[in-house]
Amino acid sequence: MSELEALRAQFEEKKGRGLSLNIQRGQPSDEDFDLSSAMLTCVGPDDVTSPSGIALRNYPGGVAGLKEAREMFGAVLSAKADQTIVGNNSSLAMLANTLMWALLRGLGGGEPWAGGARKMIVAVPGYDRHFTLLDALGFEMVTVPMTSDGPDLDEVEKFASSDPSVRGLVFVPTYSNPTGDTISDANVERLARMTAASVDFTIFADDAYVVHHLTDAPHRPKSLIAACAEAGNSDRAIVYGSTSKITFSGAGIGFLATSEANVKLLTGYLSQEFIGPNKIEQYRHVKFLGSYPGGIEGLMRAHAEILRPKFDAVQRVLERDLGGTGLATWTKPEGGYFVSLDTSKPVVTRVVELANEAGVSLTPAGASFPHGEDPSDSNLRIAPSRPPLAEVEQAMEIVTLCIKLASAEHAA
Ligand SMILES: Cc1ncc(COP(=O)(O)O)c(C=O)c1O
Repeated sequence: MSELEALRAQFEEKKGRGLSLNIQRGQPSDEDFDLSSAMLTCVGPDDVTSPSGIALRNYPGGVAGLKEAREMFGAVLSAKADQTIVGNNSSLAMLANTLMWALLRGLGGGEPWAGGARKMIVAVPGYDRHFTLLDALGFEMVTVPMTSDGPDLDEVEKFASSDPSVRGLVFVPTYSNPTGDTISDANVERLARMTAASVDFTIFADDAYVVHHLTDAPHRPKSLIAACAEAGNSDRAIVYGSTSKITFSGAGIGFLATSEANVKLLTGYLSQEFIGPNKIEQYRHVKFLGSYPGGIEGLMRAHAEILRPKFDAVQRVLERDLGGTGLATWTKPEGGYFVSLDTSKPVVTRVVELANEAGVSLTPAGASFPHGEDPSDSNLRIAPSRPPLAEVEQAMEIVTLCIKLASAEHAA
């Protein structure tokens, strides 16, 4: 029996098991959600006023959010309360909103971006929803490689300094989706001081995984906002975050941090849209997270206890089945929600197809690239957070088998 026939036979055997597994979704598990169940009942009829004296059931309080929430979530992004806007349930919606206002009115006194050609630098592989959002808003995406210490800055500088229609950069600074890479302090400083041809070149840093450490040596890169202020480009960075993977996904709190001038600009825009965010939800989060043992860090340590064994299982199976074969390389994240794998042959479309046949849902091939097009058809995003540990292990065994089979088919 040839190697290909042997792999095909193994695959048919696995397929015959009728599995239904999913390592596609970057979502917390029910066990993670259970850690925050007390949040559902931690506010009651007596919670009508915030400690700072704001009536929670009525409009007043301001569009930038409850003072206590601005303090708490500003600190998550290493920013002061005055540099922070706390919104409703989605940081992605806040990013979309900023971009829409930038298109209509410009940022920091510049012209509206919608006027002419508009480009955005994006790091790849990256987060698919960034790409679909930018595409929907008419941005041409200019890709730069994500490296182990952040976006390739030689490339970023080349595009940003030469073309005024390049309006900014979108990337994930800490434990990036999907590579798990974190920007270095040196690169934070370089981004802050680099020359840009556009007057309101803006760094949109989506820090969705800023507190999602998996080890005892947390990655804590220098604050982009502080670095931009030191470099004399204080309005250059807007950093986004949310509690979607701290408390409840889609039922958490989104927030952003930037310069005080940008907070003024953005709240001016926001106050044309609504009177104020959901302060009861903000207060519920402040009360729950403030009283959790160890605060947000304590809760994140409890999440890490649940997540770490799943990430370990991914590494164990990859190393055991693919180590030394030359068929793939993969990241070993110390935080965040994903592992990024690159096959050495252009076979990921086939791997995803085979895995689906065998009952394992994987992130679609190309999802981590603009327009869903991975030029080398080699990148696979692995999301082990949602299924129970045993299922992660089973699913990964099928993934490695599909990589071997697709690579053998390709060589045949
Ligand atoms: C990088 C990144 N940003 C944003 C989000 C979504 O955040 P939110 O629920 O706050 O809109 C995700 C979710 O997967 C993500 O991976």
